Amino acid sequence: MTDAYLLVPTAPPLVDYLRLRRAAGLSVRSPEQAGPALENSWAFCHVVSTSGEVAAMGRIIGDGGWYFHVADMATLPDHQRRGLGRRVLEWLLAQVDERAPAGALVNLIADPPGQPLYEKLGFRWVGPDAVGMTLNRP
Ligand SMILES: CC(C)(COP(=O)(O)OP(=O)(O)OC[C@H]1O[C@@H](n2cnc3c(N)ncnc32)[C@H](O)[C@@H]1OP(=O)(O)O)[C@@H](O)C(=O)NCCC(=O)NCCS
Repeated sequence: MTDAYLLVPTAPPLVDYLRLRRAAGLSVRSPEQAGPALENSWAFCHVVSTSGEVAAMGRIIGDGGWYFHVADMATLPDHQRRGLGRRVLEWLLAQVDERAPAGALVNLIADPPGQPLYEKLGFRWVGPDAVGMTLNRP
């Protein structure tokens, strides 16, 4: 990542979180959903450009012991392919290395845009004996 960007080791402001998710093509979430997400994540960082724009973010939900889930990996379209996603994910994984006991499991649901990045940082497909499953509640 160039000096044009600053990694901030906290959650972004709520409005920026919602805007970045929407701009990156992730599902639209409500302020009621976003508030606890920003408050209760185990690790969260965002990247700010020189103009003050929140350009990228990512977080980990975790129990602090051994189970950690990466979520909200997103970079604004105009800032993609500049190394921001890699910087965010490397920072999150460094948090696990520094703060969690040895032997942590880190997982994620890999949408297609993120798959090259995740594979480059060591994530491997869970199949063929297991697959990810989700359940959306009304
Ligand atoms: C996934 C995402 C966060 C990656 O952010 P980014 O800032 O563009 O990522 P980077 O620039 O750090 O790229 C990281 C690596 O992935 C590779 N990569 C990124 N996008 C790629 C693409 N579309 N095709 C192939 N490789 C790609 C890069 O080559 C780079 O590898 P390198 O560091 O060895 O050069 C971004 O594409 C995004 O926000 N997508 C839309 C939202 C989304 O789907 N998020 C993932 C949810 S699981």
